Amino acid sequence: MEKNKILALNHKMNMNLNDLANYIKEINIDNYSLVVFPMSIYLPYFLNKKFKIGIQNISSFEEGSYTGEVSAKASKSLGVNYALIGHSERREFLNEDNQDINKKIKMALKYNLKVILCVGEKSKDEDKEELLSNQLEEAFQDVNHFNKVIIAYEPIWAIGTGVVPTNEEIFETTKFIKDKMLKMTKSNIKVIYGGSVNDKNIEELNRIENIDGYLVGGASLDFKKVLDMIKVV
Ligand code: PGA
Repeated sequence: MEKNKILALNHKMNMNLNDLANYIKEINIDNYSLVVFPMSIYLPYFLNKKFKIGIQNISSFEEGSYTGEVSAKASKSLGVNYALIGHSERREFLNEDNQDINKKIKMALKYNLKVILCVGEKSKDEDKEELLSNQLEEAFQDVNHFNKVIIAYEPIWAIGTGVVPTNEEIFETTKFIKDKMLKMTKSNIKVIYGGSVNDKNIEELNRIENIDGYLVGGASLDFKKVLDMIKVV
């Protein structure tokens, strides 16, 4: 199943325990390309399934007196496989910057978590290539091992808006990111797309040749939509 594209589900801060019980029952499927990022307090409910699990954020600190933080070390010991780092909502609402993100990436890799780093421009008017280059260079400053790194290209204007770039635009930007990463790391890095992906448009998006998967927010909360999306990827 590993050869399939990645379908990463970002639940953000959603679901109560009742919603969750129902969701887990229905989503109990055998698919190693699926990575579920629940709210972190729910992670234990997702253990020992036939899909991967990830944490939506980890601390840049190793352990100790950091009230409210969740460490990479504890996540790994619990059985978490992935860490989502640098999501635009954290960059925007919590002022997370590329330096914080760099520390988090190093901490996640130190504890053998796979990293999905989110990058993307705020608006269509920005100089996208300069911004992405900057985000990638600063995030991976002094990082030497890239076999556990995936990039999620998420244009912020497409997140939760129902507006999606054209396939051509996504292809071009993905190519730009892959070329940039190849230059920086000498390795081929996977790039997934995120921003208003759902059960209705995933088939069309899946025609994009160089995409390695999808990061889905809103539509990931509905298991019926998830099952339809799994069929496509
Ligand atoms: P969306 O969110 O699918 O609701 O646009 C994607 C994301 O924020 O990762």
